[in-house]
Amino acid sequence: MFLTAEEEAILAGEEGQTRQQLMEILVAMGKVFEAEKMVPIRSAQVSGASYKTIGRWGLEWLSSLDAKATVPAILNPVGMDRIRWREMQIDPVFAKNQFDVIAAYERLGIRLSCTCTPYYLTISEYGDHLAWSESSAVAYANSVIGARTNREGGPSALAAAILGRTPAYGLHLVENRSPVLTILVEDAPGEVDESWYGALGYLAGKIAGNRVPVFTGIRPSRDQLKNLGAAMAATGATALYHVQDITPEARVFHYDASSLENVTITADEVTGVYTTADPDAIAIGCPHCSDEELTRIAEKLQGCRVKKPLYIFAARDVITRSAEAVHIIEKSGAWVFADTCMVVSPALEQYKTIMVSSGKALAYVPNMCGARSLLGSLDTCIAAACR
Ligand code: F3S
Repeated sequence: MFLTAEEEAILAGEEGQTRQQLMEILVAMGKVFEAEKMVPIRSAQVSGASYKTIGRWGLEWLSSLDAKATVPAILNPVGMDRIRWREMQIDPVFAKNQFDVIAAYERLGIRLSCTCTPYYLTISEYGDHLAWSESSAVAYANSVIGARTNREGGPSALAAAILGRTPAYGLHLVENRSPVLTILVEDAPGEVDESWYGALGYLAGKIAGNRVPVFTGIRPSRDQLKNLGAAMAATGATALYHVQDITPEARVFHYDASSLENVTITADEVTGVYTTADPDAIAIGCPHCSDEELTRIAEKLQGCRVKKPLYIFAARDVITRSAEAVHIIEKSGAWVFADTCMVVSPALEQYKTIMVSSGKALAYVPNMCGARSLLGSLDTCIAAACR
């Protein structure tokens, strides 16, 4: 792997032990994946932020590092709302550990926006090289924006944030971005909400695995694409997908559909992912809600009073700029929490059955919260909360 003189110097320890250690991570990855060189990145998004997932070992490792991010870098959701953690009934011992993790990242120059939707807060453009690690954000960056990032682990994204570069392999290379599989969605209804695309992604991820599919027969909005990619990344390892006539790279590659594997998913199969049962709690915002989603939830909750715990998650900046919608939502008795989510926070471990509107949360809640998960449309989720 070719290294510039500067990269060689970092690797030799001339810029301190932390930068050396992090360069060793990037070089090791580059060698494993046969990268020819490093590529500069525009931004990083760093996972491994909730104390629930990284624990004591992760905190100790982060605390041992001494360097600063050199490109814009955003932290993934942590285990609690940094301001309203008591309202979430977070154990004070957990909160103390979580604040230590947050302080460690802050010292490393990572922006504490704590979200899996960094694309609502920073500018990423077509062709940009990134080092993002949260799988739904990676799918969105590659597929919806047309930027280029691999699915980084927390340490490699942090290394990239601090060193401003990442090994050029995988999805950084155009030749690896071409579709190898077509997924025809049959009889897709015109008017559906994001959950329908979460259900579609839930099925499609199992089929695609880590391959790059191109969808035909659907016309999703940006929020629907967000849910589609998040679910595919959860049940498969999808980091990039295309949608014919919709996503930016779908028209870049000239492929012959007859030479690719072709799979069909029917609308009936998508409907089969939904489940009906009475939940103990409802959680919306996986991935974190957009401004438009918060507005839509507010419209549905206007004048209602929720009778079951209803959690909604979004990035703090999105919550701040959607203050009017958030006010209406919280007036109903629902919570809109920042910095965290139903999967990475221990707050939802108290429930036995959780209804979600996301294919990704449907897949993750059982293992991460120890609860049964149900998929409902946004209307079903709101109705379940208000019943
Ligand atoms: Fe985001 Fe948590 Fe879902 S990090 S994608 S809201 S599991």
